[in-house]
Amino acid sequence: MDRRQFLLSSVGALVSAVTAKTGLDWRGKRLSAQETRIEEMVRGPSITLRSLADKVGIDIGAGGINTVPFYKDPDYKKIIAREFTSLTPGNAMKFGVIHPRNNYGDERDYNFEHADAMLEFAEASKMKVRGHTLVWHMQNPRWLDQGNFDRRELIQVMEDHIRTIVSRYKDRVFAWDVVNEPLTINHESIPIFQGIGPEYIPLAFRFAHEADPSALLFYNETQAHNLDEKSNMVYEQVCNLLDEGVTIHGVGMQMHVSLRYPPNLVQVAKNMRRLGNLGLKVHVTEMDVKTETIDSSTEDKLEKQAKIYGDITKVCLDEEVCTSIATWGVTDRYSWLKEFTKNPEEKPLLFDADYRAKPSYYAVKRKIAESYTS
Ligand code: XIL
Repeated sequence: MDRRQFLLSSVGALVSAVTAKTGLDWRGKRLSAQETRIEEMVRGPSITLRSLADKVGIDIGAGGINTVPFYKDPDYKKIIAREFTSLTPGNAMKFGVIHPRNNYGDERDYNFEHADAMLEFAEASKMKVRGHTLVWHMQNPRWLDQGNFDRRELIQVMEDHIRTIVSRYKDRVFAWDVVNEPLTINHESIPIFQGIGPEYIPLAFRFAHEADPSALLFYNETQAHNLDEKSNMVYEQVCNLLDEGVTIHGVGMQMHVSLRYPPNLVQVAKNMRRLGNLGLKVHVTEMDVKTETIDSSTEDKLEKQAKIYGDITKVCLDEEVCTSIATWGVTDRYSWLKEFTKNPEEKPLLFDADYRAKPSYYAVKRKIAESYTS
């Protein structure tokens, strides 16, 4: 959004907030009492996304929280605490960051500094914390990736890792992504997975559950939100885990999507429902919507993006099984996608690079306000 567009949208927001009180929208159209209430909730400057989320009991999470702006940019923390009900660290709990050494065989091998700082901040801001992630094929320390461990040793390494972290944050992290992207890995190249074999999944869940019996344990996967071969495999795997008596509480749908490949809403809803029928929860764990995948004006891209954010919010609100939506980042300024897609123009989140609320922010609010008033 350029400055002119921003001014126009700010004026629009202000005008609609004011005129909502008079029962007219900014075009002068008469609003019903319910529409007036919704308009006030969406545009009212004192009504935050967080306060609306609390009203309907849904968790709206700030995920992918990055240590660099977390320490350096006070506005970053301000917006997280003001607008979101939970926080997911982006990297601070990943194996390579939190467990960088293997010299001592005890807590001295760990670096809890960043995870602790984020937890303390979240607690001071009365936010919940999602833990991300215990076992993944990426961002592992060199000692693990290049170590010569046999199967028994690898199970021991994974057990120590999970028990140490989950028990440290017992009763403070409400949900853990126990395994991340288990169907996305090339098992051949990753010792922890190749060495242990598929049993690493039930074992990881068991160690996590024993360390904190009250934490919700998730199987988190990417590109498995629509109904397709991959989500069918997720479904099958979680069915098997449940059959084996493994304690698993939910499936995370990362939801990294784009204007070019938007989610199929009917399929997402059906996918959520079939998981719900197994007694599981669904969290949307890492939502972002890449804008620079189609050719159009910025204004059009942001409107299309808002529609996707609003639609997914509505699906989540309508499907009882879905209890949380987290975006992966809060402001376009620090989105991981700028680096990942090598496109500095990416604008995937709810707030722009200068922390101004985007149409996507209002779209999420609107769906929550509509569900609250209906
Ligand atoms: C990303 C982080 O946000 C980046 O800072 C890091 O450089 C790479 O990883 N799926 C996941 C997340 O499960 O852990 C990834 O996070 C994004 C894709």
